[in-house]
Amino acid sequence: MPSNDISAYINRLAKEHTLSAPELLQLLQNSSETSDRLLFEHARRQAQQIFGKNVYLRGLIEFSNYCRNDCLYCGIRRSNKNVSRYRLTPEDILTCCRAGYKLGLRTFVLQGGEDFAYDDQKLTQVISSIKKQHPDCAVTLSAGERAPHIYQQWHNAGADRYLLRHETADAGHYGRLHPPELSLQSRLECLYSLKEIGYQVGTGFMVGSPWQTDENLVQDLLFIKKFRPHMVGIGPFIPHHDTPFSAFPAGSVQLTLRLLAILRLLLPEVLLPATTALNTLSAKGHQLGILAGANVIMPNLSPQDVRAKYTLYDNKRSTGSEAAEGIASLKAQLAEIGYSVPVSRGDAPGVLS
Ligand code: 5AD
Repeated sequence: MPSNDISAYINRLAKEHTLSAPELLQLLQNSSETSDRLLFEHARRQAQQIFGKNVYLRGLIEFSNYCRNDCLYCGIRRSNKNVSRYRLTPEDILTCCRAGYKLGLRTFVLQGGEDFAYDDQKLTQVISSIKKQHPDCAVTLSAGERAPHIYQQWHNAGADRYLLRHETADAGHYGRLHPPELSLQSRLECLYSLKEIGYQVGTGFMVGSPWQTDENLVQDLLFIKKFRPHMVGIGPFIPHHDTPFSAFPAGSVQLTLRLLAILRLLLPEVLLPATTALNTLSAKGHQLGILAGANVIMPNLSPQDVRAKYTLYDNKRSTGSEAAEGIASLKAQLAEIGYSVPVSRGDAPGVLS
């Protein structure tokens, strides 16, 4: 396909914020470094138009690596017996939040495996304590699939946002990445219930997961466009040595950047992190992500002694600019490309805080 046709698609995507499935497929299959320059420039400009040259930070607290699930890609899957399991106490979590608050963070993301020892009551209390101690902060949960009444209870306790990636919008592909007891349908039911309850909802997928096709990626993009999440988290798949997917290759950094840019143009106002997985595969992942239209970074705020135990994939970065205590170096990296970091909850535009 001639490169001027690809440019025409990119220009139209930037203007109309939509493309058909066959057009998205053409774009994914015929992009080049030259066409990416145009795509990233449009995406960057779009992000700046909505958010200015600001990057929002979220402090990530990995509160438990116990998980009842057995997702084939994930290092903390229940059948990985080599994981040293831990669970932070509510006081540990509050200590992390106090440290994060002093560093200027105003969103705390509580992420964990599907650990039912942290079910309703316990997490409910943690959420209300955080909101009581830091009423000017947002609390985001990332704790997997739960019953709607649990989501509701956590929302009532003050949780503002929920992250639950759909992982792949193709039911057959979903089945190859997950054990038989998990289904795309129940994942989607959770996502719709979270939205209905009133959370700001984030979804997303891995780039380059085993057996993923370009057609699958188009399905992901169109599902996201239709679902209209407030946030979208995407990052390259990275193999973990103790999983059934240990021998599969990692996803591509360039393709991840391309998809970030396409997402920014499909949903101009979306909150879009430059993820840890991206920054694990490329030392400049944060900067490259921001320059491709991302506007959020989630530094690791977990206690230092548990970080190595929350290993979803090999070599996961949790030091330097990936760590909350490395915020100064992160800010310096962002300043290099002309961006600054406001002290702000960083809500989705149009959402009242
Ligand atoms: N590589 C990249 N991302 C992964 N995740 C889990 N395992 C991996 C892996 N091996 C992502 C999933 C999950 C999020 C918390 O981390 O998309 O939703």
